[in-house]
Amino acid sequence: MRKVNQICCIGAGYVGGPTMAVIAKQCPEIKVNVVDINQKRIDQWNGENLDELPIYEPGLKEIIGETRGRNLFFSSDVDTAIDNAELIFISVNTPTKTYGKGKGQASDLKYIELCARNIAKVAKSDKIVVEKSTLPVRTAEAIKSILDNTGNDVNFEILSNPEFLAEGTAVEDLLSADRVLIGGAETESGREARNILSWVYEHWLPKERILQTNVWSSELSKLVANAFLAQRVSSINSISALCEKTDANIAEVSRAIGFDSRIGPKFLSSSVGFGGSCFQKDILNLVYIAKSFGLNEVADYWEQVIIMNDYQKKRFADNIVSTLYNTVSGKKIAFYGWAFKKDTNDTRESAAIYVADLLLDEQAEITVYDPKVNAETIYKDLDYLNSRDPEENRKLLTVVSDPMEAAKDAHAVAILTEWDEFKTLDWNSIYNDMLKPAFLFDGRRILDKEHMEEIGFKFYKIGQS
Ligand code: NAD
Ligand code: UDX
Repeated sequence: MRKVNQICCIGAGYVGGPTMAVIAKQCPEIKVNVVDINQKRIDQWNGENLDELPIYEPGLKEIIGETRGRNLFFSSDVDTAIDNAELIFISVNTPTKTYGKGKGQASDLKYIELCARNIAKVAKSDKIVVEKSTLPVRTAEAIKSILDNTGNDVNFEILSNPEFLAEGTAVEDLLSADRVLIGGAETESGREARNILSWVYEHWLPKERILQTNVWSSELSKLVANAFLAQRVSSINSISALCEKTDANIAEVSRAIGFDSRIGPKFLSSSVGFGGSCFQKDILNLVYIAKSFGLNEVADYWEQVIIMNDYQKKRFADNIVSTLYNTVSGKKIAFYGWAFKKDTNDTRESAAIYVADLLLDEQAEITVYDPKVNAETIYKDLDYLNSRDPEENRKLLTVVSDPMEAAKDAHAVAILTEWDEFKTLDWNSIYNDMLKPAFLFDGRRILDKEHMEEIGFKFYKIGQS
């Protein structure tokens, strides 16, 4: 079997960066070039201070420290990296379309197409092109068609190798992946390409965990995996609303059903709603694909997962307003957390953005504290919604770097991200510094109700009356 000496990854984002860092660590004999058109991002990856990498992931800076300059390189010279590589990962963003046909649902594949055209233009020798980005089923066909029709008489083999890492645990997920999925053509050259990619992962993963399928099953499985995970969160969140009305406790219900080995305990934590760059985008994409084949019942079924998630975010915001005597106008509300989950600085589709937007519509004055998210990102997230002009967002929302300052003279504190440090804050001092009655809304179920009520808080915990 052919072995590869050089890999290139197009896209140095949340997937490309950590994935290639782990490959470089585990395969010291392979040279890994990660390229991106965003020069600022590349400069950040190459920066001297490892605490200022563009992505925060536990364990990542240590791996970058070990591999960067040895066999891992970050650069904006996309063409040279393509030319030199035998294996090319495409790991660019595939956001939901914001224009034209499929607006609001379909994946925008313009970045993927640009990559394919670039590879076709530059490649002078045979390449294995790997779809690492999450793509609609049958995208490989389009990529192959672009490569075959504009290439320089070069043979391209297309593989689908979706990524299953979750942010916040990316390094751990990559090092001990439940499975790696490789989809490829059922031809001799297709099988050879699959085995070459499998060989890369076999450096650290047992062969039994590397699954090989046809390309279309692999592409579709990625969307389906995310849809199933998100569906569990929406299912438990729907029950959290019922718990609040019935004196049942969502943690007890989750535990009771999770003990059934057929259901299992994971992904049953009720929350203010799921966020992140993947769940919503991938379900919308699934919905769009189902509709495009006339499978309207299938589309409606999955769309309900998103509808329930939107309901959960709105329910949380509405509850803050109604609990604060039906008006939050001019009232200071502290937000603890802005990231879509703990241990990441990623805020894409974070529930905090939508809860803040709803409260700002009610003229609340929000002060945000998040240990890893900066003010620039927070304002960008809000401005992107276009709900009010940027000056107003800056007037109504303040970002601070101290949780105590955020809570000072606040009417309420709302927990939007489950950062561990929130559990050990000095909640007595926070209570003392707040206006009374002091309201505390736990959207992540990280605090103990009894203890918080003992301190004096009027405490609301999602999924518990
Ligand atoms: P990202 O936005 O963090 O990174 C994508 C990068 O690609 C950007 O830095 C962008 O500048 C670069 N890029 C775009 N077009 C380019 C081009 N033509 N040439 C060179 N660089 C280009 O995105 P991400 O979160 O890393 O996601 C990438 C893909 O992986 C998406 O399809 C996503 O659905 C999928 N995915 C993401 C996660 C996750 O946790 N974020 C997990 C699994 C799969
Ligand atoms: C997800 C998938 O887990 C991963 O396999 C895929 O590659 C990318 O999409 P990610 O979005 O990074 O990963 O994080 P994940 O841990 O799945 O959490 C997504 C959202 O669901 C977060 O907002 C999280 O807080 C929320 N969530 C998760 C819950 O509210 N309850 C849970 O029980 C689990």
